[in-house]
Amino acid sequence: MIDLRSDTLTKPTGDMRAAMARADVGDDVYGEDPTVARLEERVAGLLGHEAALFTPTGSMANMLAVRSLVGPGQEVLCEASAHIARAELGAHGAYTGLTMRTWIHPRGQVDLDAIRTIFAPDMGPFFVPTAAISVENTHNFAGGAVLPLQDLRDLREYATGVGVRVHVDGARIWNAHVATGTPLAEYGAIADVMSVCLSKGLGAPVGSLMAGSADAIAEARIWRKRMGGGMRQVGILAAAGLHALDHHLDRLADDHAHARLLAEACGVDPATVDTNIVVVRRSDASDFVAAAREEGVLVSAVGPTAVRLVTHLDVSRDDAEKAAAVLGRLAGAHQ
Ligand SMILES: Cc1ncc(COP(=O)(O)O)c(C=O)c1O
Repeated sequence: MIDLRSDTLTKPTGDMRAAMARADVGDDVYGEDPTVARLEERVAGLLGHEAALFTPTGSMANMLAVRSLVGPGQEVLCEASAHIARAELGAHGAYTGLTMRTWIHPRGQVDLDAIRTIFAPDMGPFFVPTAAISVENTHNFAGGAVLPLQDLRDLREYATGVGVRVHVDGARIWNAHVATGTPLAEYGAIADVMSVCLSKGLGAPVGSLMAGSADAIAEARIWRKRMGGGMRQVGILAAAGLHALDHHLDRLADDHAHARLLAEACGVDPATVDTNIVVVRRSDASDFVAAAREEGVLVSAVGPTAVRLVTHLDVSRDDAEKAAAVLGRLAGAHQ
């Protein structure tokens, strides 16, 4: 089977497992795990933030990050298919007590006109006040789309002007960085708080981080424990993340090339494929998924008319070519 369902499916490589086995560890709730500390410092440094906090999942990093900006009874604005709105099972509402309002963009982009229209200043006992704006870069359900740096800078300027803060869901910021050459710190400069994942394209088995000011991270450390996310000798997991940053960052360019190959085969304009995700629009999405499975290629339906293909560390050039041949044939046959 060639598995294109998600870049979360990668298995740790032999070298990564060896790095994990070698890791120095301590009790991280006591702040005594040197490998976790090294990872947190490294990621904070890469993003140009004061501090970072290791979390088990991207969802927890997002929850901690958004709640550091938005309190109960306040709102965060985001694009309608953002992961925080669509795929975190209502965690932000359920646990933080915030609400969300959304703008719609087919490519998940910043739409400053729409944001200006829905932004709500604090008017006392009348409307839910907007406390933050969240954007996702790259945007998962919009097909791994990169958000252009200038749009992000304009958003930053607007947010500062109206006195709200910015969260960036950077689960795949690594892909945006490799696709555009934009330094990670320039993306980091857009955000008051940011989340990044090690367990997607970078190929670690687990782990994400929230980055932000030292104060925001100190508070998030308490909330992480409160949510049950205080972990002990997890240097063993942080070592996988450090290994991934050392060895799996630049190779994301291969995933991007493989995604363009798949796009072309499936009749998707490769120019619309920024990174490692391809969305194929099909009226028969679930039949297409079933037919591909029959032929040894796993893909997923992410809506009744959308099939998603994701390239990653465990998909070689050869796999990508084989999958392109199968999917291309099916795409033609089921047109
Ligand atoms: C954009 C984005 N943010 C956050 C997450 C959440 O990560 P996790 O599955 O580790 O909770 C994902 C997961 O796929 C994602 O795609």
